[in-house]
Amino acid sequence: MKELLEEAARRAIAYTESLDTRKVRPDPDAVAGLAALDEPVPAGPAEPREVLRILDETCSAAGMAMAGPRFFGFVTGGSLPAALAASWLAAAWDQNTAFYSVTPGAAQLEQVALKWLRDLLCLPADAAGAFVTGATMANFTALAAARHAVLARAGWDIESNGLFGAPPITVIVGEEAHSTLFKSLGLLGLGRKRVVRVPADAQGRMKPALLPSISGPTIVCAQAGNVNTGAFDPIADICARARAAGAWVHVDGAFGLWAAASPVYRPLLDGAADANSWATDAHKWLNVPYDSGLAFVRDPDALRAAMAVTADYLPPAGAQRNPSDYTPELSRRARGVEIWAALRSLGRRGMAAMIDRTCSHAKHFARGLAAAGFDVLNDVVLNQVLVSFGDAATTNRVIADIQADGTCWCGGTIWQGKTAMRISVSGWSTTEADVEKSLAAMVRVAKAAKGRST
Ligand SMILES: Cc1ncc(COP(=O)(O)O)c(C=O)c1O
Repeated sequence: MKELLEEAARRAIAYTESLDTRKVRPDPDAVAGLAALDEPVPAGPAEPREVLRILDETCSAAGMAMAGPRFFGFVTGGSLPAALAASWLAAAWDQNTAFYSVTPGAAQLEQVALKWLRDLLCLPADAAGAFVTGATMANFTALAAARHAVLARAGWDIESNGLFGAPPITVIVGEEAHSTLFKSLGLLGLGRKRVVRVPADAQGRMKPALLPSISGPTIVCAQAGNVNTGAFDPIADICARARAAGAWVHVDGAFGLWAAASPVYRPLLDGAADANSWATDAHKWLNVPYDSGLAFVRDPDALRAAMAVTADYLPPAGAQRNPSDYTPELSRRARGVEIWAALRSLGRRGMAAMIDRTCSHAKHFARGLAAAGFDVLNDVVLNQVLVSFGDAATTNRVIADIQADGTCWCGGTIWQGKTAMRISVSGWSTTEADVEKSLAAMVRVAKAAKGRST
């Protein structure tokens, strides 16, 4: 075991050290070599060191350098050194983090992490929290609590009776809500399409004046951080209108909720603390390894009612918080260990600095691309930049060429009818030099692609 783990550490260290110099995209030869994995079931055991060798030699170069400093796709953080190291240790612990009495160390780390998170994210001090796989499941988890609460108020026990014959719930979302929010609603039986959509402005912000009049069981889903523009719904206004009418307000803050950790960007979240529930991702801006999401619910009873189970063979509820009373899963890994380690290593100042630094990198990108003559389509209020290189065909060609060049990696999107490249600066390790290097590559590749098409 000892030699194997040292070998794994040696290979992982070599991988992390290659991140700055390798091409960001997967190596095409390595991708072609993946076919070698498709072998029949091995007839017998193999040496663990040989298994590790196959993994590293076949797959390390066939992956994307997402953990590196010049990956700007989707909204993807890397792994902070303390978080990655903590993840290795937690993997060795191999704790099923369902019950405090069975795994007090991991459960206590999660409890402390939740306390710190509520403080840093400016959420109510007594809100309940849950560690889940990502924002899709965080939205699901928080909305399950919302579903419980609005139906309980109407005299319906959703957990016992299901939705058959239940009073209808009105779900209100912004026109530019994230696609996975609709998935979460569908999983809860609330329907991906059975929603009232409120029009949004050119940045994707819900127009609160256009909220419909609210009566009966209602959930309003606001967004903190649009995946394309980074824009925030006017949450204070939405909360004031919705809560006055008795609705539950949920905030999807998959990455935007972390803005609360920076005094500079906190005002974007004005009013968010008045909501009833919040979802966010730790694998995005907190920079912990995949997968890691967080749900928070103001009324802990509503979340517990939606999630807790009992069985004769399981430990009964005690004085301490049982993690599984708050999550869809009973058994799960100790996700909170990495979150605790990230927060313990950053502290309040480090957390704010990471948010501020990545946002100023995004502004740097926007300035550089505009100076080179390209169209920046969004107000760069956070860490997201949208740039067009011309018509859809040209922009798509430039995106493909930038990806193939390998200096950095960005994905594409269509923003309100216009094809664009997305730049999301979410990684802790990105430096000014990485931004300069990536900008130079983008401009060089875009000018060459345009030159070829004229
Ligand atoms: C606003 C928003 N909500 C939800 C999600 C889904 O997050 P995950 O992929 O972690 O489930 C994302 C992902 O980018 C997002 O930006």
